[in-house]
Amino acid sequence: METSWAKLSQQISDCAACALCEGCTQKIPGQGDPSAPLMLIGEAPGEQEDRQGLAFVGAAGQLLTKMLEAIQITRESVYICNTVKCRPPNNRTPLPEETAACEPFLLAQWALVSPKVVLLLGSTAVRCVLGESYRITRCRGQWFERNGVAIMATYHPAALLRDQGRKREAWEDLKQVRQKLDTLGLYQALQRGEP
Ligand code: URA
Repeated sequence: METSWAKLSQQISDCAACALCEGCTQKIPGQGDPSAPLMLIGEAPGEQEDRQGLAFVGAAGQLLTKMLEAIQITRESVYICNTVKCRPPNNRTPLPEETAACEPFLLAQWALVSPKVVLLLGSTAVRCVLGESYRITRCRGQWFERNGVAIMATYHPAALLRDQGRKREAWEDLKQVRQKLDTLGLYQALQRGEP
């Protein structure tokens, strides 16, 4: 999908490619630096996101902010979005056909941001980006590469809220992201919030 931010925003707003749009208050495209070197992909908007119109602003989002702060990266300096742009009913996991319907938007965001590093948050983002056969428990903490972009997966912050025992592994993953950005000469810019 060849597009601009303005066109993409309109296309997302007009989208009725799956039934999720029938139950949500508004579309949540994502937000942050539109040319960020680091892009984060979560699962789907939840109740707070649906209400406020922004990705990752509920409890999981607050933990995500802290996780980024732990590696001295500001939220404003990254781009954050989800595999689907509409809140699924009762916060259920999006169905494969729903993530597939929304995939052109994710790909368009990816193309527009043109990140150097992508952090996948949780299993839905992993399956969507790496492939259906990938499992978060097996692939987290490892680097993958797609068209020159370094990709790391870690646990979704909501999973960390449910199971504190996974925090140590998530911390190791984040340290690897910091190191990769440093190696690519991008870490200082992210700390200062520069392009
Ligand atoms: N969980 C997600 O995956 N995304 C959000 O935006 C909020 C919670």
